[in-house]
Amino acid sequence: MDWCKVLGFVYSLHLFLSYVSCLHRDQFPSSFLFGTSTSSYQIEGAYLEDNKGLNNWDVFTHTKGNIMDGANGDNADDHYHRYMEDIELMQTLGVNSYRFSISWTRILPRGRFGEVNQLGISFYNGLINALLQKGIVPFVTIQHFDVPKELEDRYGSWLSPEIQEDFQYYAEVCFKAFGDRVKHWVTINEPNILVNLGYSIGVHPPGRCSLPYGNCTSGNSKVEPYVAAHNIILSHARAVNVYRKFYQENQGGSIGIVLASSWFEPLRNITVDQMAVQRALSFETGWFLDPIILGDYPSEMRKILGSNLPVFTSEQRNLLLTTKLDFIGINHYSTVYVKDCILSRCILNSFEGNGLLATTGERDGKLIGNPTGMPGFYVVPYGMEKVVMNMKERYSNIPMYITENGYAQSSNSSTAIEDLVDDVERVKFMQGHLTYLSSAIRKGADVRGYFVWSLIDNFEWSFGYSLRFGLHHVNYKTQERIPKLSAMWYRAFLGDSAINQNWNENPSLKTY
Ligand SMILES: *[C@@H]1O[C@H](CO)[C@@H](O)[C@H](O)[C@H]1NC(C)=O
Ligand SMILES: *[C@@H]1O[C@H](CO)[C@@H](O)[C@H](O)[C@H]1NC(C)=O
Ligand SMILES: *[C@@H]1O[C@H](CO)[C@@H](O)[C@H](O)[C@H]1NC(C)=O
Repeated sequence: MDWCKVLGFVYSLHLFLSYVSCLHRDQFPSSFLFGTSTSSYQIEGAYLEDNKGLNNWDVFTHTKGNIMDGANGDNADDHYHRYMEDIELMQTLGVNSYRFSISWTRILPRGRFGEVNQLGISFYNGLINALLQKGIVPFVTIQHFDVPKELEDRYGSWLSPEIQEDFQYYAEVCFKAFGDRVKHWVTINEPNILVNLGYSIGVHPPGRCSLPYGNCTSGNSKVEPYVAAHNIILSHARAVNVYRKFYQENQGGSIGIVLASSWFEPLRNITVDQMAVQRALSFETGWFLDPIILGDYPSEMRKILGSNLPVFTSEQRNLLLTTKLDFIGINHYSTVYVKDCILSRCILNSFEGNGLLATTGERDGKLIGNPTGMPGFYVVPYGMEKVVMNMKERYSNIPMYITENGYAQSSNSSTAIEDLVDDVERVKFMQGHLTYLSSAIRKGADVRGYFVWSLIDNFEWSFGYSLRFGLHHVNYKTQERIPKLSAMWYRAFLGDSAINQNWNENPSLKTY
């Protein structure tokens, strides 16, 4: 079978579909950032190199039974040694930005209890400078799930207010070292996922939880997620405070936070399910964004959680209201149905039920959208517009970036590479979500960028390497990167170039 011909046909078909759906690059502002997204632990590898300290993920992945197939990020995509090649992939795509994260323990192997590691600073200097040289804007996440082991051992990381001091110190090292060239900072990635998976169901480090939420050796699922979240919110505020006071004026950048942001539809066309949708939004993103932007937790959360939800002192509230953020980062992947559990009976044994609601992908035997490789994630393109419009209304149209959006393929050792590279479903996913994003922008939403998760297949946390989110396939034995159909589609979309011209120009196509 000539895969080039087959892919060429499928590709033309999809360009045709994108033409009839009228999706074009020029429907987005010319200053709009289009990029791809990654994080340090998921791609870098080199886990013991150049004085890097151990982090929570190094420890967790090396503990038997935590990760599918016993996988870890020791080598991952070996991006640490191959970043120039990966920047070339970006250049071929034609993106004008790249979102990546800094590994805390490359910069501070022992947190604030040790020296700054100059070799870590050098690595990110090399990456940032190479990006800028190619006209690619660095969009930098300071913390993406990884915490120094030292801080976990000393005081339990996010469970202690001490982490605020460490995070502020780390953020300031980053502003000082890179802020002359980095103009887009994210303090923390998906703290809502971090605390739910780490402290409610215990499938991410530090693996703490209590029954019936999960079966861990220690933890308290009803209390700890809220304590960790409280310290994360204040850590964000402390970092923003330092940036505003000492760096922002000279460096001229902006700073925000990134939340995992699903969309929710009422399961039944009844008022209580519509109210449950509002609670779902409050418990998922309002939990973090309301305190940061409005100064306190959503009232629904206080009402339901009572004293399990920490209280901001007036000093802390003051800090929140004087720091806030410059933009909201939205990681949007999926939409689910929500059912009320105040009047209806439900089994509330996981964090989803904390807002007295249940979520499901199914109504009357029919799925809300096509399933993806990620359990519980469905393809529902209109969710993109709804999630953005809801943020616009709730937070007075603060600038937004779609910091992640992407499609998971599941794979195993017997999955044919041809099937993975021919990722028609991912092309449809991106087309659909971008179409609805452009609609939100036409309706006035101040969205300033879109980043696909991800540039390359990578280590997908507890799923190991079995889920592939990349626009480029990675052969983990050889570290060869192969552009998928979706990479070619993104390139064509960004370049607005005709299919044939693109086809002839792209030599990488001829490699398979
Ligand atoms: C929790 O895990 C332990 C050890 O694996 C096991 O013995 C126990 O039966 C589990 N408890 C529940 C309720 O699943
Ligand atoms: C929901 O119910 C209202 C009346 O209760 C009705 O007017 C409306 O058409 C229904 N919507 C849907 C999508 O079924
Ligand atoms: C491996 O993946 C293929 C799809 O790529 C699937 O059909 C098959 O069931 C999977 N096998 C196992 C053992 O999971």
